[in-house]
Parts: sequence; C-alpha cells; structure tokens
Amino acid sequence: MEKSLFNMLKEYGESDYYPFHMPGHKRSVIDGPLDNMYRYDITEIDGFDNLHEPAGILLEAQKRAASLFGSEETYFLVNGSTAGILSAISAVADRGHKLVIARNCHKSVYHAALLNELSLEYIYPSEWEEFGVLNGISADDVESVFHEIALRDGVLKKDLKNIVAAVVITSPSYEGILSDVEGIVRLAHDYQIPVIVDQAHGAHFGFHPLFPASAVSQKADFVIQSVHKTLPAPTQTAVLHHNGKLTDSNLIKKYLRVYQSSSPSYLLMAGIDFCMDILQNEGRERLENLLKYREAFWNKAKQLRNIKILPSMLEKYKNEKTVWEPHAAEPGRLVISVRGNDFTGQQLYDILLKQYHLQMEMSGADYVVAILSMMDKEEGFHRLISALIEIDVFLESREKEEISAEKKSIYKHKHFKSAQKISLKKAFTASFEEILIEEAVGRTVSDFVSLYPPGIPLLVPGESPDKEAVALIKKYLENGYNVQGVVKDILNNDIKIKVVKTS
Ligand SMILES: Cc1ncc(COP(=O)(O)O)c(C=O)c1O
Repeated sequence: MEKSLFNMLKEYGESDYYPFHMPGHKRSVIDGPLDNMYRYDITEIDGFDNLHEPAGILLEAQKRAASLFGSEETYFLVNGSTAGILSAISAVADRGHKLVIARNCHKSVYHAALLNELSLEYIYPSEWEEFGVLNGISADDVESVFHEIALRDGVLKKDLKNIVAAVVITSPSYEGILSDVEGIVRLAHDYQIPVIVDQAHGAHFGFHPLFPASAVSQKADFVIQSVHKTLPAPTQTAVLHHNGKLTDSNLIKKYLRVYQSSSPSYLLMAGIDFCMDILQNEGRERLENLLKYREAFWNKAKQLRNIKILPSMLEKYKNEKTVWEPHAAEPGRLVISVRGNDFTGQQLYDILLKQYHLQMEMSGADYVVAILSMMDKEEGFHRLISALIEIDVFLESREKEEISAEKKSIYKHKHFKSAQKISLKKAFTASFEEILIEEAVGRTVSDFVSLYPPGIPLLVPGESPDKEAVALIKKYLENGYNVQGVVKDILNNDIKIKVVKTS
C-alpha cells in the first residue's frame, strides 16, 4: 500500500530535519489545543459562539488579541492572510477603481484586484544590488505614483481619493525588508486614501524593542498578519486589524463572511487564542533568546568568505534606533547569499536540505531565505552555521566567476515592466490557447505566472511579455525553480503558456 499522508507527516515529524521555514511553531511539541485534536475538533455548536457574528467567547478572544496588538478591531482568520487581504481590498473597492500597489505584492492582492475589477498602478521597488533583493518602498515612491496618476487622469491631487481605492504594500517582504509604513500612511492619509499593509511575515513585530514596530502602531487602516508564519500557531491562522475612520467597519465584517469558511475550525481559532497567550506571557523573553542565537550566529558568520549574510537593522545600527532607509531589514529573517560565486540559490538550498537536513523557506536567484521565530532552538543555528562554514570552504576551492551579462540580467528582473494590454478581468476570463513560451512575446497572457515561493506574479493576466521576460521564465525553469502558471509538456520537453485567443 502507498504511504498515507499521515504516515508521511509522522515520519517527517520524527526526523532530524530542522525547520527554517513556516509555520513559526517550528514543529515544537507544545501542550495545547492541537493535542488530541479530534477531541476538540468542532465547529459552531451551542455555547461556542459564531465567528461570523461573534457575541461570546470568540468576541472576547478577538478583543483580547486587539488589546495585545493595540488595535481598535482584530478579526481571527482561518483561511490565512489570503482571506484578510481579499476582504480588506474588497472593503475599499467602492472608494475608487484604482489600487496603488507595490509590484512585489503577494498574488492574493492581484486576486482581490481581479475579483473587484480594480486597475493596478504599480510602485516598482528598487533593488539592493549587493544581495539581489528588492528594497522597501518609501513615501516618495508613493507620492511619485500619485503624481503620475493625477497628471495622466487629469485630476487634482486632492481628488485622487475618488479614483484611488487604497495603497497596498508588503512590509516586511519575504526577505524581511521593511517599507516606510509610517511615512506612507502619513502621506496617503493627507489625501484621505487608506493604506493596507500586508504584514503576513511580521506578526511578531512590536513585541520586543529591537524588532520593528507593527503597522498597527504606525496607523495603517488595515493590517493583515499570518500568525502561522512567524508565531507559534497552526498553519492557515492569521489576524486582520482594522483601525481609523477612513474605511468601513461594517463592510470588512461583511467581506470576512464572504471569504471565510462558514464552518471555521475551532482548533485553528483556539490555536490563535493560545498563541496570543504565549505572545503575551512569553513573547518578549522568547524573542530575546532568538536575538541571542542570531548574534552568536552573526559573529561566527564573520569568518565566511564566499557566503554573505544580509545584515538586519540590528547588525547595521548596533541596536540604536535609526530612521527608516530602503535597505532596512528585520532580524527575524536570514538571507544567505552566494552572489559572486558560480553557484545558485537553488544549489545552496538543495545542499542544505540533502546534506545537512536543514529545510530553508525558499531560494531566490542567488540566495536562500530562512524564517526565524521565537520557537527556534540554539541547536538549529549551530547546525546552520557549521553547514555554511563547510559550504564556504567548498566554494573557496571553486573558481570565482566573472558574472556574465546574462546572469546579471536574471538577478535584475525581480519583476518585469510588461505592458498591460487589456484589463486583468478581461484577460483572465477570455478564451485562451496554450502556445510555446518562445512564441508568447507580444501576446497577451491570460493567467498569472508566478515564482513560488514567494508567490509574486512575474506576469499578470492582460500583460504582454517581452523577450527578456520570456528568457527569464525559461531560465528559472531550467534552474529548477517552481514557476506556477506555465504548462509543462514533459513528453516533448516544451513549456507552454496561456494567452488570449486572437480569433
Ligand atoms: C507577503 C505574503 N502575503 C500574503 C501571503 C498569504 O498568506 P497565507 O498563506 O497566510 O494566506 C503570503 C504567503 O506566503 C505572503 O508571502
């Protein structure tokens, strides 16, 4: 008989693979609601309140979470941050038909634009060349896009609020890079435009003075956080915080009913509530421990000659508070770079996994990302630095590569600036045909093409890829990256892509 999914999970749970990935509980054995899960697995029965109209135990639990995060309203999410992002964007959609978004937003932001038929106006983050990661977004970046829209659409800036539904940014990014949330909120609020912060990777913010402030305290209108990514909480759990008067409290509740299951799992909700207890009672101390492990790791990493670790705010500013800058990175991530070596991020990822049983969260063109959490153990950091020291010696013995123009071009294109030929909705719902990717130049794509993780679309329906975009997607595939939205014809060794039918 084939292995059952449960048996596979059991085997993996008992193995020595160390998790530098989500969920943030790091497979630690915690006494909690998930012990004997079937005993506690219910949905809405008498006496247990109702997530969609909470009036009892769930209302109290959400209020407790709101008070912990300093938010006016907090909602439990059982369908991940995805449900929160879909709901928040839907709740602002009646304000205008444009959404100003950072181009490196998660696909759920694009899905919300698709469902609400919003047109997208992009803020393109610059790149931190030394590491090949995208920088954070500044208030000036947002102001430039506002300015451009006002000029193009012939509206006064004070009237932008009638056509711009909201600004959406991701902070921190998958790589831990922060945007200037405070400055962006101040600017957008001057125009009475709400700001939605996808803080899926920053649910731990604000619980230790050396970690960044949460976007709730920075006055964003909606903040969505995946508690499952960086906190000890089960997969799929997240919270949505709502603040201020620019957006409608009733609408967000209505949309949460649309996008969330009508049978929410009480195990997941108890998991969020339980996580709030841990955060309140042990959060600061556990984050303090994590910083100690990080510091010891950082000090040992100084001996690496070929591998570079991206410095967080902590290493850059020696614990002193500083003003925000585009490279600001939070300390809960490790970006481990092999840039400058004849080696890809995927190769590093594979070696760490296969030889050292260290499971990273993701690989980029020439780096890997490890998710750290308050549940990490010192042992994990010891194992990681020992492995990196050995790999560094191995890299030393290899010839240094003069980075070719071709490879540089791969590094550069975290996102394309492909022309939008028709609307997202029109392209997504149009009749399509599958054609060879090489023939897609100049055609209009009808589905999302994303690198996963991080789930940021490389191509959006309605866009027309150029030669460079096509070459890069092929390169990612050749190098073993997981590109979603292309059709692999294994028999003929062909890659196809869905484009809008022309006749
Ligand atoms: C930046 C970002 N936002 C949102 C999401 C969606 O979060 P969830 O998996 O909790 O639905 C992800 C998932 O990886 C993400 O990386």
